[in-house]
Amino acid sequence: MAKKKKNIVMYFSMFGKNDKIADIISIELDALKIKIATSGWGLLKIPLHMVKGILERDVVMIPNKNLQDYHRIYIGGPVWAGKPCPALMDLIRKINIKGKSVVLFLTAKEDFGNAETILREAVKKRGAEVKTLFRFLTSENEEKIKKRIKEEGIDFY
Ligand SMILES: Cc1cc2nc3c(=O)[nH]c(=O)nc-3n(C[C@H](O)[C@H](O)[C@H](O)COP(=O)(O)O)c2cc1C
Repeated sequence: MAKKKKNIVMYFSMFGKNDKIADIISIELDALKIKIATSGWGLLKIPLHMVKGILERDVVMIPNKNLQDYHRIYIGGPVWAGKPCPALMDLIRKINIKGKSVVLFLTAKEDFGNAETILREAVKKRGAEVKTLFRFLTSENEEKIKKRIKEEGIDFY
């Protein structure tokens, strides 16, 4: 019997937008959803996260580092100060995606800055190919996101 193909979405979200996108991917594309956690409390969460990112210290703890068994891999999170947030960059550094083809997503209020280029380069550096990268605005509604993911996201492989 053929082995069932497994899909996964790994992401970071501070304020909930990427939670919603990951929910849509998980439900519509039958993917295991893994939210990446960071340390810190309340208002300290963001500055602590940013300082750790600048110092290249551990920002996230990854429960599943080896993604080799997964067929479709979706990775995403928010843009912070024109870059992918540090948790997302740390996630990319810690997972094994060598030889994989991945789908990325980024969300921003209005300005994506250099985030797309930085994220694409980081994924390439880890030996993976970027199949596509979705940019979603924080204001984009769930119906529109679902439509784009289903139309552009289902026939990737
Ligand atoms: C520290 C910080 C920096 C941000 N920098 C940017 C930015 O450079 N450009 C932008 O358009 N939005 C920026 N935003 C807004 C977020 O990228 C946007 O609201 C995102 O959709 C939030 O995702 P989340 O709800 O999953 O955390 C920033 C938000 C935070 C908290």
